[in-house]
Amino acid sequence: MRWFGFRPSTLVTMCGIVGYVGPNADAKAIDVVMEGLARLEYRGYDSAGVALVADGAIASEKRAGKLVNLRSAIEAHPLPDSSTAIGHTRWATHGGPTDANAHPHRGGEDGKLALVHNGIIENFHALKKGLIAEGVEFRSETDTEVVAHLLAKAYAAQGDLTAAMQTVVADLEGAFTLLAVHADQAGTVVGARRNSPLVVGLGEGENFLGSDVAAFIGYTRQALELAQDQIVTITPESVTVMNFDGTPAEGKHYEVTWDAAAAEKGGYATFMEKEINEQPHAVADTLLGRTDEDGRLVLDEMDITEEEFRAIDKIVIVACGTASYAGFVAKYAVEHWTRIPVAVELAHEFRYSDPVVDDKTLVVSISQSGETMDTLMAVKHAKELGARTLSICNTHGSTIPRESDAVLYTHAGPEIAVASTKAFLAQITACYILGLYLAQLRGGTYAEDAQAVMKELSEVPAKLEELLGSMKRVKEIARFMADTRSVLFLGRNVGYPVAMEGALKLKELAYIHAEGFAAGELKHGPIALIDAGQPVFIVVPGPDTPHGLHDKVVSNIQEIRARGARTLVIAEEGDDKVEPFADEVIRIPHTSPLLAPLLAVVPLQVFALHLSTAKGLDVDQPRNLAKSVTVE
Ligand code: F6R
Repeated sequence: MRWFGFRPSTLVTMCGIVGYVGPNADAKAIDVVMEGLARLEYRGYDSAGVALVADGAIASEKRAGKLVNLRSAIEAHPLPDSSTAIGHTRWATHGGPTDANAHPHRGGEDGKLALVHNGIIENFHALKKGLIAEGVEFRSETDTEVVAHLLAKAYAAQGDLTAAMQTVVADLEGAFTLLAVHADQAGTVVGARRNSPLVVGLGEGENFLGSDVAAFIGYTRQALELAQDQIVTITPESVTVMNFDGTPAEGKHYEVTWDAAAAEKGGYATFMEKEINEQPHAVADTLLGRTDEDGRLVLDEMDITEEEFRAIDKIVIVACGTASYAGFVAKYAVEHWTRIPVAVELAHEFRYSDPVVDDKTLVVSISQSGETMDTLMAVKHAKELGARTLSICNTHGSTIPRESDAVLYTHAGPEIAVASTKAFLAQITACYILGLYLAQLRGGTYAEDAQAVMKELSEVPAKLEELLGSMKRVKEIARFMADTRSVLFLGRNVGYPVAMEGALKLKELAYIHAEGFAAGELKHGPIALIDAGQPVFIVVPGPDTPHGLHDKVVSNIQEIRARGARTLVIAEEGDDKVEPFADEVIRIPHTSPLLAPLLAVVPLQVFALHLSTAKGLDVDQPRNLAKSVTVE
């Protein structure tokens, strides 16, 4: 899987990294790095670590769990004075959240190189195989350690950390920010970035590196923006930038105007707004590293054999809230590609029912947090009934994946706002990967198409970027509607769960009555709700959707408009048929019908966010709700 031209301009959220070099006499490196990590902890908090260069050696400490664990470990066993340090706060992608998998990772037999990494090295399996063949012993399950060993090897040959970095990045695929120090090169930190953030903080006789400016905002507001595929070397007195091919480059100097709180939110007013804008990355990162050298799909931790997957004759998706709507979307696609029947059950209903489930049933749980008690109990129930269980989850090491036979991780990065946004898109993406994997494994009509669909999925991030840049009118509509008391949402097929998700976002964020309906169901009752001025969002399928579904939805719009509804239509670019019946048309880029939910939900998220803001409500922490619902 490649990026197919997608060049992200927003931030990848996974992991926070910080680097510092100060004057020799200055022993404050550990304080600067720990302070930076505290400010970056929102980016990942399942483990943290630091490495310092001191007396020709690396001193390092790392701990699973929140930063406080690392702090206690350092207080118990203080690290030596140093003026050169790197640090990391992790959101696990490869390898669970353990002490061993925490960063920094050491490279070389002498362990003289230390490395921190944000992102995913797509080709790490192949690189690791090569290193193992050379006799390298690995101490962790991470993709990062592979790079640490490669860098140590290159340093041994070249004797310079910048040159070593240039050699190694040429072999890496995927998205990464890397920061490295070497025991024999005190006073130097070398960084590299590709599709993952890295900024330089410019000090007086000291310099900084960070995933974002929050890392060093307590020390300097002067910053340097790096372009993609660049290497930066900082010493106390210098900052040198070059491209991966070795040609000299210059960063773009700017002054940070944000305060520390705004810096954590990447300059956005709320975490939710930031997370909505991170959705291109949530999709792109979830797609990363899913194909082997032959282009065949591979999944994460699987204790289900290919034989068992082939024998599956039924899929039951269990989840709650937004995660369940991701499951509803997936049902349409997975049934279409695999011809396996898919049922979607609210986890708390499944748990207290007598479902028809046996060892040929695959129960797929979907959970951002991996801790939702209702979903966990459903997984346990499914296991008791003999089903095979697979978890789609955003949080490594959480309970639900641990209880499941297999895991497919979404790589949305930590979701801080209570209302789920980027996790929803990542969940749909992961479900699609699973569906295509099953299609490929079982053969049949869609096995051949799997790669084509994966390619089309890889084009979604760029479309999301385009869409996110065109939300001005949606924000205006939201502001005008601040006094609205009820909003309805309609959709058909994959648009139906999108309508339900739009309604849920509005309920939880703006405390407005909202309902999502299947558009075909209107005439069976709900149409009685329509009277003059009733706002209704309609998610219109693209004109090339099979079974004439597009025209059916256009008829539904006419029906409600004739009864006075104010129609807010979400339609594909170029779909002119909706124009005569729409009070507002919100355009989304063209994509194939099954992929459209990844785009169509975005205006609904933005609408709910801005309506909530217009009402002066707390967007990130709506009343009565918690991010992780750990009670039944
Ligand atoms: C809505 C929302 C919730 C969660 C649900 C499941 O915005 O966030 O509906 O989707 O509570 O949570 P997870 O995915 O953590 O199991």
